[in-house]
Amino acid sequence: MTVLAIDQGTTSTRALLVDAAGRTRIIASLPHRQIYPGAGRVEHDPEELLANLRACLNAAGAIAVPDAVGIDNQGESCLAWEADTGRAVSPVLVWQDDRTRAMADALRADGVETEVLARSGLPLDPYFSATKFAWILREIPAARRLAAQGRLRLGTTDAFFRDRLTGHFQTDVTTASRTALMNLDNCDWDPELCRIFGVPMAALPRIGASTGDFGTVTCAGHSVPLTASIADQQAALYGHGCRRPGDAKMTFGTGGFALVVTGRRIATGGAGPLATIAWQKAGAAPVHALDGGVYCASSAVNWARGLGLFDDYAAIRTFEAPSAISRGLVFVPALAGLACPHWDRRARGAWMGLSLDTTPADMMQALLEGVAFRMAEVVDTMTAHQPLADPVSIDGGMAANDYFCQMLADCLGRPVMVQDEPEMTAVGTAVLAAEAVGQAIASHRPGLLVTPRPLPPGLHDRFRAARAAVQAFGAA
Ligand code: G3P
Repeated sequence: MTVLAIDQGTTSTRALLVDAAGRTRIIASLPHRQIYPGAGRVEHDPEELLANLRACLNAAGAIAVPDAVGIDNQGESCLAWEADTGRAVSPVLVWQDDRTRAMADALRADGVETEVLARSGLPLDPYFSATKFAWILREIPAARRLAAQGRLRLGTTDAFFRDRLTGHFQTDVTTASRTALMNLDNCDWDPELCRIFGVPMAALPRIGASTGDFGTVTCAGHSVPLTASIADQQAALYGHGCRRPGDAKMTFGTGGFALVVTGRRIATGGAGPLATIAWQKAGAAPVHALDGGVYCASSAVNWARGLGLFDDYAAIRTFEAPSAISRGLVFVPALAGLACPHWDRRARGAWMGLSLDTTPADMMQALLEGVAFRMAEVVDTMTAHQPLADPVSIDGGMAANDYFCQMLADCLGRPVMVQDEPEMTAVGTAVLAAEAVGQAIASHRPGLLVTPRPLPPGLHDRFRAARAAVQAFGAA
């Protein structure tokens, strides 16, 4: 048995063939353009993403015709297209895009945040699809015209891909749970949320489980069933083998995302971690999770590399000096604002404590530590609602950095298990796609256990002070 998993992420589309023994083979990894049309705006070209998906399907099909295909997608990124032709009428507004910040602020000023939180589990933030849909309807005349004619489709990227590849206009419940339009209690579009955001419910896709019979896709001329469709962070959670309440994973890709299985819905009662759906198998009840993110993780490292602070990734895996924060140098990775639990899009990144003897290596050391301290803030707020089981399993580009992994364990004060499989997201998608056709994929993987060392006192407070300072500066 062979399953093809396609991981359509923020920076690339990757195809992985996975066999029953859990052996993975990467078939393609196709980057796509990151389009930055203005301050805070991040777009992708829908046709480019679709072309890359098709190229992945064909590349895999040319090697082996899979028994099933699973596709995972960026969580909140969304667009509008024409119902009859499938032609996109907007770019993909990427999850990082914060052009709708003022809209989210205005809604908050209107006093609707409590209602939005109670129904969707999500605070008001440009991160989620709802305000992006509202922006499309407000700013793109063709979208408004199509809406008036009942010919508009609004969806997250998975719904666009599935509409174009299989002819079915559907989304899965995990992705729908990231729009701020789905009611977490009944897992259906919520009329009141649609009213609040001004989104016509008729333009939204049908919400279904994350696995099932989703039609067929074409792999190099062969029709293959699509049996899994799920948001990428949730796919990674499944790939890490997290199944029971308390099981948690962290992925350090473009951003850093922690998810913990809760099983049932947990009402957080405030704007801390996000209540979200972990997965839903065909015919079964949805499994709930809590999610907390740091918007910039590897993207901060790559940004610093672009600035010339280092060249070779190997150069930032170990440092001779004691931690930068213990020497008074702190980095706050708020390059795109602060997510959980601060939800502050005005905050921006900063190094604090620079002096004439600060070196680029010191700045990089502080940068890695800053991501670890931010994740500790996220985990603190999660554990208030759901205790985490140890060790927490981690993956993603930054998980290959020894210094970062040790600092993460130290900042969390708990052991972390570093996965040696770089494609945990695709693995989760493959396991779900296989299970949907009654097959199993062996998923036990070796990892490296990193145990925490005690941190000198006062470092969390020092980080908190720096984080609060960037927030005060952003608000001034
Ligand atoms: O919520 C954003 C998330 O889905 C993006 O993940 O792996 O594409 O950076 P990734």
